[in-house]
Amino acid sequence: MDKILIIGASGQIGSELTLALRKVYGNENVFATDIKQAPADVVESGPFQILDALNDKALIHFVIRNKITQVYHLAAVLSGNAEKLPLQAWEINMKGLLNLLDLAKEVGLKKVFWPSSIAVFGRTTPRVNTPQLTVTEPNTVYGISKLAGERWCEYYFNRYGVDVRSIRYPGLISHKTEAGGGTTDYAVEIFYDAIKEKKYECFLKEDAALPMMFMDDAINCTIQLMEADASKISIRSSYNLGGISFDPKEIAAEIKKHIPEFEITYKPDFRQQIAESWPKSIEDTVARKDWGCEYVYDLPKMTKLMLEEIKKKLSK
Ligand code: SER
Repeated sequence: MDKILIIGASGQIGSELTLALRKVYGNENVFATDIKQAPADVVESGPFQILDALNDKALIHFVIRNKITQVYHLAAVLSGNAEKLPLQAWEINMKGLLNLLDLAKEVGLKKVFWPSSIAVFGRTTPRVNTPQLTVTEPNTVYGISKLAGERWCEYYFNRYGVDVRSIRYPGLISHKTEAGGGTTDYAVEIFYDAIKEKKYECFLKEDAALPMMFMDDAINCTIQLMEADASKISIRSSYNLGGISFDPKEIAAEIKKHIPEFEITYKPDFRQQIAESWPKSIEDTVARKDWGCEYVYDLPKMTKLMLEEIKKKLSK
């Protein structure tokens, strides 16, 4: 039986992926770790431990002691926060990945997952239906770290046969754990403010379209990619994933259908520049062809569920 380690299990993706993987692999076989405490359902449903993945010795001990066969490495500093402390963000985003790739090679891990991002693209990239293979000249430290990470993943696969798999996630939207420090975070914050205040001040402009995806779709695609036969994986850097594309005025209009008095105002900050350097929409035929990723949630379906779930959460 596989034993899975999640690094970053308290974060936006990790807190949901841990529970989803526990359903597939059994609670006791999915080891959640983070440098901060995880949500109660993660801690209560299976093993959780505080672990700093930048500490290579602690990481290797953990992997050997628990006979880990697969690792999902989700810990990172997101785009907005990374611009505030570029060198620290670089250190955190790169060192964790390199520790893990080398460990995978040394102990012979069966599989590794590492998330990349639409942030690998930049101002010189075609912004509509951005293809899998295109210009990648990111301008943010987060994007530079993700692009370098993709190159390292492919290198470890080609040179050492490490079975590493990756997705360039669009902005991820969930009602469980907030992201924190990203450019796409507005599309989560907007729901909380719509319910609590009936208004939202957006840090992007009204027409700043970006690719986004509901978390359930992202989790399903991730598990699908990791379960695909290795022979089907033609991309060892990272797969484009399209999801849905919308701008702040479109999501605001969708929210207004449920909360008619809701008002949005715009006060763009430095993250507007970041948004302008990223694609508006993504083309993902390679992922569909290789391992058949599918999404269920469009903007109306996602909006309805987000509002219902956040209302429930806030009324507890
Ligand atoms: N959602 C991330 C961010 O905004 C992009 O990967 O930083």
